[in-house]
Amino acid sequence: MKILVLNGSPRGEKSNTIKLTNAFVSGLCEVGENTVETVELNKLDIKGCRGCFACWKGGEGKCVIKDDMPGVLEKILWADMIIYSFPLYYFGIPGQMKNMIDRCLPNVLPFMAEREDGVGSGSHMARYDFSGKKYVVISTCGFYSAKGNYDAVCGMFDHICGKDRFERIFCGQGELFSIPSLSERTNEYLGYIRDAGREYAGGGISDAIRDKLAELLYPKEVFEEMADASWGINKETGEKESECHVFTRQMAALYNRKSWDGKDRVLEICYTDKGETYQIKLTKDGYEVFTGTELTYTTRIDTPWEVWKDISVGKVSGSGALAKHLYTVKGDFSLMIKWDEFFGRDKNAVRESSAAPAAQKKKPLMAAMIGMWMVLWIAVPIDTLVGALIAAGVCAVMPLILHGREITIYDKLTCAAVTIMSVLAVFLHTSGTDTVFAGRIAADGGYLIFGLMWLLSAFAKEPLCAAYVKYGYGGGKALDNPIFVTTNKILSLAWGILYVILAPVAFLLQSSFAPVVSIIVCNAAPMLMGAFTVWFEKWYPAHVAAG
Ligand SMILES: Cc1cc2nc3c(=O)[nH]c(=O)nc-3n(C[C@H](O)[C@H](O)[C@H](O)COP(=O)(O)O)c2cc1C
Repeated sequence: MKILVLNGSPRGEKSNTIKLTNAFVSGLCEVGENTVETVELNKLDIKGCRGCFACWKGGEGKCVIKDDMPGVLEKILWADMIIYSFPLYYFGIPGQMKNMIDRCLPNVLPFMAEREDGVGSGSHMARYDFSGKKYVVISTCGFYSAKGNYDAVCGMFDHICGKDRFERIFCGQGELFSIPSLSERTNEYLGYIRDAGREYAGGGISDAIRDKLAELLYPKEVFEEMADASWGINKETGEKESECHVFTRQMAALYNRKSWDGKDRVLEICYTDKGETYQIKLTKDGYEVFTGTELTYTTRIDTPWEVWKDISVGKVSGSGALAKHLYTVKGDFSLMIKWDEFFGRDKNAVRESSAAPAAQKKKPLMAAMIGMWMVLWIAVPIDTLVGALIAAGVCAVMPLILHGREITIYDKLTCAAVTIMSVLAVFLHTSGTDTVFAGRIAADGGYLIFGLMWLLSAFAKEPLCAAYVKYGYGGGKALDNPIFVTTNKILSLAWGILYVILAPVAFLLQSSFAPVVSIIVCNAAPMLMGAFTVWFEKWYPAHVAAG
């Protein structure tokens, strides 16, 4: 297929819209053999039509103006698909694009023709055969939504291409495609545009992708706050604002009120190299930005401006930079842990369409994993045979209990280990081994395996506790956070060592002389470790962050 892209943005290659168009074309090119030609209208000399009708009167369809338009007309005739890419200007198309379209008059004959699609009151016969051509119109606009802004554009293309004979992709908040710090969201959107291109080449864009394209990039209020801040001019006073101030205001605009957890916070950011400090007060009702240190902060970040900027555009990861002490954090560290909840995108808030979000699996359940071990440790020593059958039975129904949830490798290992220890207990019992001894081998052997599982997981990419708690820290992304991973490695190691030691201690105490001491030790030690865990998981990241 021969594809012609007509870029009608005065910004040329820097156009927001052309980013969408390029994504669409790359999707198209995933299907079949294509040749793509792009015409940058801003680089060409295309004068306005003089209205002399010389192209009609002369009979040959030749324009008398000497400029670059003949080359464009040739490409229009060459192409099988024409993609019009332009920004919305005053609810219509920009001048360069309009000039080019006006100068397409030589492509039609002067004679009147009836329209079969009922658009308008007539048309002109085509000079060439355009019947097989495909048309796509792609445009971004500056308001929060494209809805209601493209009536004139659609009306015009209905006349030019035929009623609804063109595919259209219109996107609001177009300027966001030029902001690197928002690239996570804009790239996600461009991904859907690419999907749309691929689907279009395959026969048509699906409703699922159309729904994705109809979603706002950001909620209206967030976008409008960011857009207003972006001009670097104070709305009330008209004074210029520094880039740190603009950046802080834009970041504050991303505050997601739903993340408020019952505690008002004051985030203080000191741009150390610029000597500027700003505060963002985060409450149930929204946010306020202050200059200086008027309020008492709950969390303070000291950072060079460049570091914070690099983090915002994804050049370095925030957690990685923190681990390297490129910036420091003082005060309440929970804000940093929940950063994505506070300043990330609320995915439900941008849904303008009625489509329900795709069903997601629920978080894994650590209690279910520990529960399997508990049954082994409690039931088997009480009655080896019945206890082992109960423990094996619990493992057998575990897939039902965990239905609809993520299942971790540690759930699977636990299920396998508890089943094996239960079978071992039954085997020892039936082969004549002392029943109490058989029970202890299974239960205390379970302590050992449990401990080894924790211990060895400390050397894995995803330590055991991380597999269950990462959901509170951004999910899979938490594993890129060195502080999160180190915290969980240390905790996994500590729990592992505890249980590897507890296994022989429990066995010796229980089978010799002190079953009561054994019960006390085996319960008190994990409780103390639990208390340590609660303290350590807060203390350690804050300790590293404070530098
Ligand atoms: C002269 C002018 C007129 C504009 N008119 C509108 C408009 O009517 N509606 C709108 O939503 N955005 C309007 N915009 C904003 C642009 O459509 C928006 O910034 C677009 O994303 C620019 O795309 P580009 O980078 O591809 O040129 C206008 C911008 C300019 C410069």
